[in-house]
Amino acid sequence: MARLARSILVTGSNRGIGLEFVRQLTETPDCPEHLFATCRNPDGPRGKALRDLADKHPNIHVVQLEVENQASVKAALGTVESYLEGKGLNLLINNAGVDTFDTLQTVEQQEMLSTFNINVVGPILVVKEFLPLLKRAAKGAETEGMSCGKAAIINISSKLGSIGEGFEEVQDLFYAYRASKAALNMVTACLARELKVDEILCTAIHPGWVKTDMGTEKAPLTVESSAQGILKVLAGLSASSSGTLVDWEGRRLLW
Ligand SMILES: NC(=O)c1ccc[n+]([C@@H]2O[C@H](COP(=O)([O-])OP(=O)(O)OC[C@H]3O[C@@H](n4cnc5c(N)ncnc54)[C@H](OP(=O)(O)O)[C@@H]3O)[C@@H](O)[C@H]2O)c1
Repeated sequence: MARLARSILVTGSNRGIGLEFVRQLTETPDCPEHLFATCRNPDGPRGKALRDLADKHPNIHVVQLEVENQASVKAALGTVESYLEGKGLNLLINNAGVDTFDTLQTVEQQEMLSTFNINVVGPILVVKEFLPLLKRAAKGAETEGMSCGKAAIINISSKLGSIGEGFEEVQDLFYAYRASKAALNMVTACLARELKVDEILCTAIHPGWVKTDMGTEKAPLTVESSAQGILKVLAGLSASSSGTLVDWEGRRLLW
């Protein structure tokens, strides 16, 4: 695969799909010059797999970033800027997220709020802070149109947040999780409209039901296949995909 982008930032990249993105991106022959692998606790036990990977690849920069903590997002921006040395950030992947297993009987106010804080407010804060770098990348690009190699925001969403298709395979209602991903889908649609003028592509992606801590062992899809599929889809995105929800195989989903 040709280089996806010169610089890429992935949130929640210490395990699951985020870690697999980082692993596969380092394996591409023309890997990104700067791969900002962010996570909320890089020095803790949960950061070990990412630290081990970064030790082998000098283009991976492990950066602390807790998505719903504005001070942490601002500090991460400072670190990223120092590596980019005046250049822009091409691709921002909002991957970090949490799930819930609530029903109407069990759902609590605090669970709704904390899920929204991480899955919806977090990505908006990250986009707000990193937008100047994305705009710089778009302005500095020599190519016409929109692409992940130029400037893009990818929100890792879920089919469970789709009102049109989200009840086909899974009937559980998971109020907090579904509502947060539906909100993230709307955020993606709004961003796509607002940032069209800057030629920044904004797309929401459903990764499939994936064997990770979140997806559990019961999931049919390996993390390797999901990440590989998504990276292939990202390489083919253009202006016509901005403001849409697609799955890991590139199939367009209903909102
Ligand atoms: N797995 C699936 O079947 C599936 C299906 C549809 C959509 N998705 C979506 O895909 C994305 C990745 O899921 P996954 O399966 O890889 O989940 P996962 O294995 O549970 O990993 C979640 C990642 O998000 C990070 N994270 C959680 N809260 C955070 C916060 N406040 N700030 C920064 N990072 C935070 C976690 O960091 P810690 O290690 O610090 O907790 C971890 O790196 C999520 O957005 C999820 O909703 C997954």
